[in-house]
Amino acid sequence: MGLEFVLDSEVVRGFVSEVQAQIAAASSPDEACKRIRPRFAQLLADPDWLPAEYQAAVPESGMGGGIGQWLLCRAEDGSLSLFSLVVPPGSETPVHDHLAWGLVGLYRGTQDEEIFARRDEALDLAERRSLVPGDFYVLLPPRDDIHRVRTTSAETSVSIHLLTNDTGCVWRHAYDPDSGEARPFRSGYVNVGCEDE
Ligand SMILES: [Fe+2]
Repeated sequence: MGLEFVLDSEVVRGFVSEVQAQIAAASSPDEACKRIRPRFAQLLADPDWLPAEYQAAVPESGMGGGIGQWLLCRAEDGSLSLFSLVVPPGSETPVHDHLAWGLVGLYRGTQDEEIFARRDEALDLAERRSLVPGDFYVLLPPRDDIHRVRTTSAETSVSIHLLTNDTGCVWRHAYDPDSGEARPFRSGYVNVGCEDE
């Protein structure tokens, strides 16, 4: 499978190749996530691998609020992406889904996260959690797939996403949390385009 390394470093290459090996060896997404967990924790604990440019907020971004989604690596067939999501202090993402399984963890700053569950056409707030650097969770849609994150630290928060789609380029959904109404949503990436753009 062809890989596009936007951040082409030994750490990212090593991480992605181990992730691919673990996915190939696993018999389910759940098992793959379990296998990837230790390596993902290691990546979050390493303070040196992510250059400052991928931890920078971006005015006028697709997510709004100065939120930057920086691609680090993706599979050319759309089966994997690794990216950082940078949320300035006080900013929050729209309520959104991901439509793919994977792991998401906090690298810098602190965040509050609200997870929503779909009930018919409406959205219920299912859980609220506070995240500190090193915290991460497994995303196995539809469980935990709809959420919103807000930065609670005085510094910008940076989270690392490893998901099994080309998250920035797929059409997914943003939601009105009050009515539950969904609208088509494509976040894009700050630093690369999507094929059909
Ligand atoms: Fe998200």
